[in-house]
Amino acid sequence: MNISIFGLGYVGAVSLACLARDGHRVIGVDVDQAKLDLISSGKTPVVEEGMVELMASVARTGRVAVSRDVRAAVRDTELSLVCVGTPSAPNGSQDQTAIQRIARELGEAIRDKREPHVVVFRSTLVPGTVEDVLQPIIESASGKKEGAGFHVCFQPEFLREGSSIRDYDKPPFTIVGANADAAVALLKQLFGHLPCEFHATSIRAAEMLKYCCNNFHALKITFANETARLCEALGVDPFQVMDLVCRDTQLNISRAYLKPGFAFGGSCLPKDLRATMYLAKMRDVELPMLGGILQSNRIQIDYAIAKVLASGKRRVGMIGLAFKTGTDDLRESPLVLLAEHLIGKGLSLLVYDPEVHLSNLLGANRRFIETHVPHIGALMRREIEEVVRESDILVVGLNDPATLAALKRHVRDGQLVLDLVKIPDRTGLRGEHIGLCW
Ligand SMILES: NC(=O)c1ccc[n+]([C@@H]2O[C@H](COP(=O)([O-])OP(=O)(O)OC[C@H]3O[C@@H](n4cnc5c(N)ncnc54)[C@H](O)[C@@H]3O)[C@@H](O)[C@H]2O)c1
Repeated sequence: MNISIFGLGYVGAVSLACLARDGHRVIGVDVDQAKLDLISSGKTPVVEEGMVELMASVARTGRVAVSRDVRAAVRDTELSLVCVGTPSAPNGSQDQTAIQRIARELGEAIRDKREPHVVVFRSTLVPGTVEDVLQPIIESASGKKEGAGFHVCFQPEFLREGSSIRDYDKPPFTIVGANADAAVALLKQLFGHLPCEFHATSIRAAEMLKYCCNNFHALKITFANETARLCEALGVDPFQVMDLVCRDTQLNISRAYLKPGFAFGGSCLPKDLRATMYLAKMRDVELPMLGGILQSNRIQIDYAIAKVLASGKRRVGMIGLAFKTGTDDLRESPLVLLAEHLIGKGLSLLVYDPEVHLSNLLGANRRFIETHVPHIGALMRREIEEVVRESDILVVGLNDPATLAALKRHVRDGQLVLDLVKIPDRTGLRGEHIGLCW
């Protein structure tokens, strides 16, 4: 394939070298003449393992060219990869000066081109940038419409400095955000041979995914480091602890707990987080990330409260009260907190939870009700039908098949259903569905 690459920093230069190695003809474009001179003399513009040898060898093939001429680079290639920098502005926002400038230049070049051109943005871009900012710039500069004269795609780059050639050849996955099958097919031709999954998605999801991955990596590093600070204060070996943490691939290093939903609660997570923070406080160890978790969890509950109040409905039916499906444990259940709040706001409330029968509750569980929501008994109904019938908005916090099937039988048209659990199959569920944050 004939490919132009705009921006020859870490991402652009490594892509240029690897694509040329794989047999493609590449034209590298950069505003920095020094980088162009280095590449044209077979040298690497970035310090990366293996790049000195790779640049020298691809230069000898004659498949690498450099230029400052955007118009010629677009004219002579089918596809452009855009890898210019997107640094932080002083206020933390993304500085898009370079990417917007290159979009305009690409648009002007596309104006003169007969065949449709594919523009693949590989710089990290805040969600919405490609479709709301860059595509309109290209459309106005080219006088052509996306999908007709050109296609835009977003393909996040996952290489890491220091191991970029290895990462290029073995990424975690290839993600292509695009609006046209033809553009996806072209990228599959380029990257489909890599030993990883290939996923086509919306452009916005691909943009968001890149931030999610980087934020998750940052969160993992900080988790290990906060754990180490607390371990040091307690005289525990943090490497041993973190190694063991990673050996649990059932609950720790797995998909478990990584699905959006309602707040956590129950008799363990909140109290153990509080105890951790107290330990840290006693030893003057600062753990701001762990310390922020309960606050964030609380905001998830506030979100649900705000959505019920914003609906304007006064008769609320809560489906579920225990802290998770399949248990009768009410201690620190976020649904109990939600119920308390709604009652406090003067809303009328009825509750159905098939696992919670007051007469059967014992010990700590019963005490919890007596101290936290003593009037809960009066609000609970044994039949879901009555709760549905007497409510204008239902808050679904339970995910068991029998309850969801009953909901499908009883919910009426126009009734609001606030979904805290992402009901797996809504076929046949009448009413107006509202997701918690989806
Ligand atoms: N460095 C990484 O490990 C990495 C990994 C994944 C994603 N990314 C993302 O990829 C993008 C590029 O990162 P990088 O580290 O390669 O950046 P970099 O700063 O090393 O290189 C950017 C290059 O773009 C050039 N440039 C600027 N304006 C230009 C223009 N108008 N025309 C042509 N070239 C222009 C600059 O001269 C520079 O050579 C960023 O959005 C970054 O967030 C970086």
